[in-house]
Amino acid sequence: PRPSTVSLLGKEYATDDVTNITSSIAEKLGRDLHRKPAHPLGIIRGLIEAHFTGFTAISDVSPLVTPARNFDDLGFPEDHPGRALSDSYYINRGLMLRTHTSAHEVETFRAGERKWLLSADVYRRDEIDASHYPVFHQMEGARVFSNDKTGMQELANDTARLASELERANIEIEDIPHISSTNPVQPEHDPETSALVAHHLKLSLNSLILKLFGGHGASTEPVRVRWIEAYFPFTSPSYEVEVFYRGKWLEILGCGVVKQSTLDRSNVPDSISWAFGLGLERLAMFLFSIPDIRLFWSQDERFLSQFSPGKVTTFKAYSKYPPNSRDLSFWLPGTGLHDNDFCDVVRDTVGDLAETVELIDQFTHPKTKRTSKCFRINYRSMDKSLTDEEANALHEQVASRVQEKFGVEIRN
Ligand code: PHE
Repeated sequence: PRPSTVSLLGKEYATDDVTNITSSIAEKLGRDLHRKPAHPLGIIRGLIEAHFTGFTAISDVSPLVTPARNFDDLGFPEDHPGRALSDSYYINRGLMLRTHTSAHEVETFRAGERKWLLSADVYRRDEIDASHYPVFHQMEGARVFSNDKTGMQELANDTARLASELERANIEIEDIPHISSTNPVQPEHDPETSALVAHHLKLSLNSLILKLFGGHGASTEPVRVRWIEAYFPFTSPSYEVEVFYRGKWLEILGCGVVKQSTLDRSNVPDSISWAFGLGLERLAMFLFSIPDIRLFWSQDERFLSQFSPGKVTTFKAYSKYPPNSRDLSFWLPGTGLHDNDFCDVVRDTVGDLAETVELIDQFTHPKTKRTSKCFRINYRSMDKSLTDEEANALHEQVASRVQEKFGVEIRN
């Protein structure tokens, strides 16, 4: 039986038939890693905030939002997969954990902010591996221009400033057209104005990337950036940005010209805006060479003491304890079982001691039509070597929890 309430950030909330937040997720609320000045996430946040002069920096907004704020206000269709219980955390039908910082666009625009950055923890149900974690941090940024002579002058001046800075810099940019038939201007917009705003957005982000990725170490290699056409329900045209770093293209952000319906809903008249959303862990993992996303949550001094405010330094791994893997196979109940539901029970039972969960086998019995799945769970502690007995004990706990919770039939 599910408890009738859950306690989050010191308040009680009623549960209902959609409640799927687990206690290991609930514990993450209020940790506020992005607000710690000597934590890699806080350091990256600080660097970006320092780069965007004159922007209001917001970082203390509750992660509890209505689905209307997270999805409807931004034009997400009714059947968008992000809304599914398998992808997002719900407290109840009326309240969820934000899945992105865009959930705060309308209220921030409505509060009158015209140049702002908003950093926050966001929550998505996802697979378990070294770069995915159900809680991560994003920064949303937006800039509104008045659609009049003064606003367009400001836009032109700032575009010129950024263009001349980038012209002199060691940066290689693969660009795409601001607007195209597959990445269209909004019907409410004058194509020329929309293109100017998109151009300013691109220059603003190229300049940020130059600041973050250039100038570390003695490298004379250019910073390489590539712009890619994208789609978001709440921007058009839309783009994604990738940076070439240590031999790989990394996607670091999404952005675009804000849908006019968002500004209308926010009571911002006669204006046009751009917005971007970037992943702080993604940036921090590369800039600090942090190999595993779980490390951000470490309370170990050997991790925390390595960082200081305002400085990007190279993380030195302090432990390499061996992994201990165990397989679990079971027959699914008649109602099925989503892999994410399984992963959540693993996390909720053993926390960060589960490094990876991998589906290694699956088949359906030809006669009985029952489906069997086999998951391999890799147990590893960041802080000590797990003994075989400890790994067995963890694995037994996981097995009995999934059996209890989903009525699966364990096979091994
Ligand atoms: N919210 C988007 C995401 O999480 C990123 C984004 C922000 C895209 C703002 C466009 C504008 O993927």
